[in-house]
Amino acid sequence: MNVLVTGGAGYIGSHTCVELLENGYNVIVVDNLSNASVESIQRVREITGKEVLFYDTDVRDKAAMDLIFARQKIDWVIHFAGLKAVGESCKKPVEYYDNNLNGTLVLLRAMREHNCKKIVFSSSATVYGDPEVLPLTEECKTGGTTNPYGTSKYFQEIMLRDLYNSDPEWTVVLLRYFNPVGAHKSGLIGEDPKGIPNNLTPYIAKVAIGELKEISVFGNDYPTPDGTGVRDYIHVTDLAKGHVAAIEKIGGNGVYTYNLGTGVGYSVLDVIHAFEKACGHQLPYVIKERRAGDIAACYANAEKAKRELGWEAKLGIDEMCASLWNWQTKNPNGYKR
Ligand code: NAD
Ligand code: UD1
Repeated sequence: MNVLVTGGAGYIGSHTCVELLENGYNVIVVDNLSNASVESIQRVREITGKEVLFYDTDVRDKAAMDLIFARQKIDWVIHFAGLKAVGESCKKPVEYYDNNLNGTLVLLRAMREHNCKKIVFSSSATVYGDPEVLPLTEECKTGGTTNPYGTSKYFQEIMLRDLYNSDPEWTVVLLRYFNPVGAHKSGLIGEDPKGIPNNLTPYIAKVAIGELKEISVFGNDYPTPDGTGVRDYIHVTDLAKGHVAAIEKIGGNGVYTYNLGTGVGYSVLDVIHAFEKACGHQLPYVIKERRAGDIAACYANAEKAKRELGWEAKLGIDEMCASLWNWQTKNPNGYKR
């Protein structure tokens, strides 16, 4: 079976390529390398010993996408390609909506024209906005997003539902990721953020290796057990396996929505202490003001994915931190050798 992975050179995409290849799928990657290195594709080949067809292509390039669909029959598309930095999206809304919404529209037009009507879409827990109840189930209200990135995810979910409503031959899987962290156990692929990381775990890793001075903890006055923000961190390998489970288990046409999380919330201080165990030394941190737009707590009820896909996250916070530390120490400059 041929799976087209858009954004497959990126963080979650590269890990998903590994799981697909290891489960016998042929993988075709489309990525414009705007936030990735082609080296990640080479590393995926190294890990799996299998070939990956790679196109350095923007998903908004309809002619190029048509050519890709014409060259080989695509059975499923897993659509990761998009811009994802929340802060940047507030400064560059036009670029974010153009990339994320137009990218999806062009892809869907190409898919429809080539009669490929099965898509897995990378959504996010951000579509729930500020949760009214925890843990979050798939039935919880969506919308109320507070930044163009989150709003683009919310819009894309609506676009995909409307598409199915217009043509019931489609199979649409909306996977709402919680907080993906960690790296492949080989230490060959991992997250390679450009510049100073915005997200917690890559920032901690850079402090642990001595590249950054100290961790800023954004607020300790939230209504959480230790006052710091609580999130549902999920190992990227577990997340990647969730995509394979979706392709394997979903038979009929329809729109299917799943939370991919562990169901367990950890605070910022919990994560710092888990990382200290992984790297073997204490990590300096200071308490700062809350970060604008942050919510107190967010974690999943992931029962639906377990029930319907037979998928559940297996790796805990210690494995998440240890694998990130392994990647960080083996690749202090990311994919730059
Ligand atoms: P990433 O930036 O590492 O991967 C995205 C990939 O898409 C990159 O390789 C980039 O070069 C590529 N890309 C961007 N625009 C493109 C375009 N127009 N054409 C072709 N390629 C393009 O990000 P990631 O963390 O792997 O995220 C993958 C997907 O999952 C994204 O859609 C993201 O919004 C979503 N997501 C990520 C998280 C997270 O915490 N990482 C959480 C929820 C959802
Ligand atoms: C953020 C995005 C979310 C996106 C996700 C993955 C926001 C508001 N949300 O989630 O849409 O899907 O990234 O890319 O940006 N923290 C610190 N110090 C730091 C960094 C973070 O204390 O240096 C805290 C945050 O306040 C939060 C937790 O750590 O409580 C996790 O933060 P982060 O890793 O940025 O992820 P989210 O904000 O949950």
